[in-house]
Amino acid sequence: MATPVDVVIMAAGKGTRMKSRLPKVLHRLGGRALLQHVVDCVVQLSPRQAVVVTGHGADQVEASVMPRATPGATALLPLNFVRQEPQLGTGHAVQQAVPCLPEEGVTLVLNGDVPLIEAATLRGLLADCDGKRLALLTVDMPDPTGYGRIVRQGGAVHSIVEHKDATEQQREIREIYTGVMAVPNARLKNWLSRLSNDNSQGEYYLTDIVKLAVLDGAEVVATRIMDKVQVDGVNSPVQLAELERAYQLRLAAGLMEQGVRISDPARFDVRGTLVCGQDVEIDVNCVFEGSVTLGDEVRIGANCMIANASIAAGAVIHPFTHIDGEKLGVQVGEGALVGPFARLRPGAQLGPEVHIGNFVEVKNSTLARGAKANHLAYLGDAVVGERVNYGAGSITANYDGANKHRTVIEADVHIGSNCVLVAPVTIGAGGTVGGGSTITKSTAPGTLSVARGKQVSLAGWSRPVKNK
Ligand code: UD1
Ligand code: CA
Repeated sequence: MATPVDVVIMAAGKGTRMKSRLPKVLHRLGGRALLQHVVDCVVQLSPRQAVVVTGHGADQVEASVMPRATPGATALLPLNFVRQEPQLGTGHAVQQAVPCLPEEGVTLVLNGDVPLIEAATLRGLLADCDGKRLALLTVDMPDPTGYGRIVRQGGAVHSIVEHKDATEQQREIREIYTGVMAVPNARLKNWLSRLSNDNSQGEYYLTDIVKLAVLDGAEVVATRIMDKVQVDGVNSPVQLAELERAYQLRLAAGLMEQGVRISDPARFDVRGTLVCGQDVEIDVNCVFEGSVTLGDEVRIGANCMIANASIAAGAVIHPFTHIDGEKLGVQVGEGALVGPFARLRPGAQLGPEVHIGNFVEVKNSTLARGAKANHLAYLGDAVVGERVNYGAGSITANYDGANKHRTVIEADVHIGSNCVLVAPVTIGAGGTVGGGSTITKSTAPGTLSVARGKQVSLAGWSRPVKNK
C-alpha cells in the first residue's frame, strides 16, 4: 500500500449490557481479549501505527493489550493510547486521536468490540479508499434495528442515518454501516472539526462525516461484504457466546480443510493456537489452550483439556486427560499413551512409547523411552530411565516442607506398588524396590530393596468371638 495507514480503534465505551466489572473489550473470545483480536488483525496490514481510544477501564485496557510485530518485521507495531473522557460519541472518540494523525495518509477506523474482522476485508476497503475516497464498510442485515442506515441517492451513498434519528421509511433500509471506514487523514480532520451533536442522542456521530463529504463533493464509496460474522459486535453475554461459537466453527473448518478429523466441530474449542500434523483425530469436547502442537496421527480422546503442550507423532491421549504445561510446557513423545484420567503438569517430558495410565500425575519429570506408570501414581521432580516400570500407588516424596528434591530412577528399574521414594534419592539401574517400601537411601544398581515391616504369620491363632 503506497499511502501510509493509521488505525484508530474505538474502545472507550462502557459495554453496559455486558453487566460486568471487566471493560467490554477485555472479555475473551477464543482465549484472547476482543480488542486483542482487532490488534492482531491490523498488524497484518503493516500500518504506520494503531491508536486505541480508551475511556471506561482505560488503565486496565491499556495494560492488557499485547503489542505485536507486523509480518516480516521484528519491530513491534507502534501502539498509542488516547483517552476519551467523557464519552461524547464515536465522532468525539476519533477526535481524540487527531493529534496522533499526520496530514498525509489514510485512517482506518475500527471498533474494539468487533473481533472477527479479517485483514483481507480491510485490504479491500483500503483499496476502495485508494488514498482519496471516504470508504464505508457496509453489510445487509436481516434485522437492521439499532444500526446506522446507508442512505443512497441514485445509487450513490448520500448519508448515514442512525436508527434513533431515522424516519420510518429509512428504517426499512437493510444496508447498514458496520462501524468500519477508511478515510484520508486531512479530510477526516476537517470533517471531524465540523461535527455537531444536534441529534436525538446529543452525541458527536462519526457517521455524520458522510454528509460533510457529500457537501464537499468528496467521493464516498461503500464496500459491501456478505460475511456478517466479520462485523458482528459484542454487546451482551449472549452475543459473546454466539460469536465464540462462530469463531470456533471457523477454526474447526480451517483445520478440517487441512485434513484434521474433528468428531464434532460444535464441541471443539481452541483458546490459543493449535497446530496439527497429518491424520490427527480429535474426539468431542476437547479444549486446547495456549500453544498446542499435535504431530502426525495423534489421537485425542473425548473430554481432554490440553494446554501448552507438544504431542509427538502417533501418541494417543485417552479420554478425560488434563495436560497443562503452563510456562514450562509439556512434551509427549512419539507413540506414547496417556490416560484415561491422567494429569500432566508443567515440565512433564515423556519420551517415546512412554505409558501414563489412569490417575497418574507427572510434574517436572523426564521419562525416557518405554517407561511406564500405569496406575494411581505421582512422579514429581524425577528423572526416570528407559523401560522403568513404576508400580501402582507409588509416589516420589519430592517436598520436605521447605524445598523440592529430585528422584533419579535409572534404566530398567522396577518399582513395586505403593512405594514412597523420599527425595533426594537414586534407585540404581536394573534394581527392584519391593512393594510397600519407603526408600530413604539410594540403592545400588541391580539390587532388590525392601523397606517395610517384616511379615509375621502366626499359626493356630484364633479370631476373637463376640461376647454373649
Ligand atoms: C455505531 C454507528 C452505527 C453503526 C454501528 C455498528 C455511530 C454514531 N454509529 O453505532 O452507524 O451501525 O456503530 O456497530 O458511529 N465508542 C467510544 N466512545 C464513544 C462512543 C463509542 O469509544 O463516545 C466506541 C464503543 O466502545 C464501541 C464503538 O465506539 O466500540 C461503537 O460505539 P457504539 O455505541 O456501539 O456505536 P453504535 O451507537 O452502536
Ligand atoms: Ca454498537
